[in-house]
Amino acid sequence: MALIDLEDVVKEYQMGENTVKALRGSDLEINQGDFVAIMGPSGSGKSTLMNMIGALDVPTKGKVTLDDNDLSELSENELARLRSEKVGFVFQKFNLISSMTAQENVALPMLFRGSSRKERMERSKELLERMGLGNRLDHMPSELSGGQQQRVSIARALVNDPEIILADEPTGNLDTETGDKVMELLKELNEEEGKTIIMVTHDPHDAQYAEYIVDITDGVTTKKEKEDNYEYTSRIQDD
Ligand SMILES: Nc1ncnc2c1ncn2[C@@H]1O[C@H](COP(=O)(O)OP(=O)(O)OP(=O)(O)O)[C@@H](O)[C@H]1O
Ligand SMILES: [Mg+2]
Repeated sequence: MALIDLEDVVKEYQMGENTVKALRGSDLEINQGDFVAIMGPSGSGKSTLMNMIGALDVPTKGKVTLDDNDLSELSENELARLRSEKVGFVFQKFNLISSMTAQENVALPMLFRGSSRKERMERSKELLERMGLGNRLDHMPSELSGGQQQRVSIARALVNDPEIILADEPTGNLDTETGDKVMELLKELNEEEGKTIIMVTHDPHDAQYAEYIVDITDGVTTKKEKEDNYEYTSRIQDD
């Protein structure tokens, strides 16, 4: 079975009298080791889809299976545990805790797993060194550049050694050169460690790092080859 399997997933948000249909019946299989770019216009349902895949929210209808676990059968606690073991999250705005140092930010997800302080400090140091930030352990997020903050957040995503990395516009707040470094890093994690990477992007250049694209338009997902991507680019320029 695929690592991630969505069957006819519908997600609706109730806004007073109105129902927003964010996902209209998604069928999607993502295999272990895939590198996927999710692309589509603003409001098309990309982040909603990521929330379903990462077990951050539950579908209105349909089934999400993550590594053979039917998410609808799990309790809140079981979901939280599955998330912390299997999924690392990277966000456009980094989402670092401003009152904690780089190292404390990276070590934080280990706290919830009951690791000792020594283990936490060692693992977070090792990961930050690997991200080229060995000399920034005690810096606060505000004392780091955007690219450095994103590398701290990637280290944090990796700290529990998850199989899956979900990145929602990881280069959205970075200049092209810094963004390319972040993309290289994701590619390396995919190729050298077999991490499954699912990334939302607006940028056709970033999408080239992926193996294939999942297009989403008005809550409808379609798997596409990268070569088909020109359609996406032209559609964006049209509106
Ligand atoms: N918590 C919510 N409550 C109500 N409506 C929501 C909620 N989250 C998202 N929506 C709506 O669902 C639709 C899909 O939103 P989503 O955030 O998934 O889009 P997106 O593709 O990630 O957009 P963007 O590229 O702007 O980040 C939008 O119409 C949005 O307004
Ligand atoms: Mg979004």
